[in-house]
Amino acid sequence: MKKSLIYQGKAKSVYQTDNSNEVVIEYRDDATAFNGVKKEALKDKGHVNNLFNAYIMQKLEERGVKTHFIKVLSETESLMKKLQMIPVECVVRNYAAGGICKRLGLEKGMKFERPVFEFFLKDDALGDPMINTSHILTFNWAAPEEIKYMRKVTFTVNDILSKLFDDAGLLLVDYKLEFGRFNGALLLGDEFSPDGCRLWDKQTKDVFDKDRFRQDLGDVVGHYKTVAKRIGLTLI
Ligand code: TYD
Repeated sequence: MKKSLIYQGKAKSVYQTDNSNEVVIEYRDDATAFNGVKKEALKDKGHVNNLFNAYIMQKLEERGVKTHFIKVLSETESLMKKLQMIPVECVVRNYAAGGICKRLGLEKGMKFERPVFEFFLKDDALGDPMINTSHILTFNWAAPEEIKYMRKVTFTVNDILSKLFDDAGLLLVDYKLEFGRFNGALLLGDEFSPDGCRLWDKQTKDVFDKDRFRQDLGDVVGHYKTVAKRIGLTLI
């Protein structure tokens, strides 16, 4: 397959294929945190995240969530539908961690009686500020039906994945999703991997996500692999 690089993100590269409706996404070993200030290559992360994302996207598709995922191409590459991305990030939180603790003065680990939903603007230069639906409408980042759809699907994903991780002895603390347009309709895009969510062991509260990298807890990819194994994913 002929491919040419069209976009290079912090951890993934996007290549155009011969088919203008499809892209190849390559998951690299690069890890970044604190808006790119902390940077490192973590051996095998690209491989693990590629297969982790494929597994989750397939589970979501089985449950009726429409995603951009088509198929795995290699250890570190998957074929996806080419989306026109909406520049917002949809975050759902089941437990207090990260940004919300500081912002609202909450104790880390507090369980929310109902999940919290937040929008952030995808803008590295601004440090991904939190925004609301009024901003999204005023600045035309998405239409009213699209906002409704992203919110609904992000909560549906929460039901599906909270159960999937719970069955593996893990708490889905919070996560981020991104959506994009394909032939006029929205699909779930980007990725779902331990890079974009928080996962804690139900009993010990041990950290199994990117906070291991952010907080220098060590063996980041080893923990991602353990999550993969616990949810039933065999890495090739
Ligand atoms: P949040 O606590 O707002 O971010 P931080 O810990 O960086 O202060 O993030 C909530 C969840 O969403 C967490 O699992 C990380 C994920 N997330 C991203 O992966 N990228 C982002 O740009 C944002 C805003 C969140």
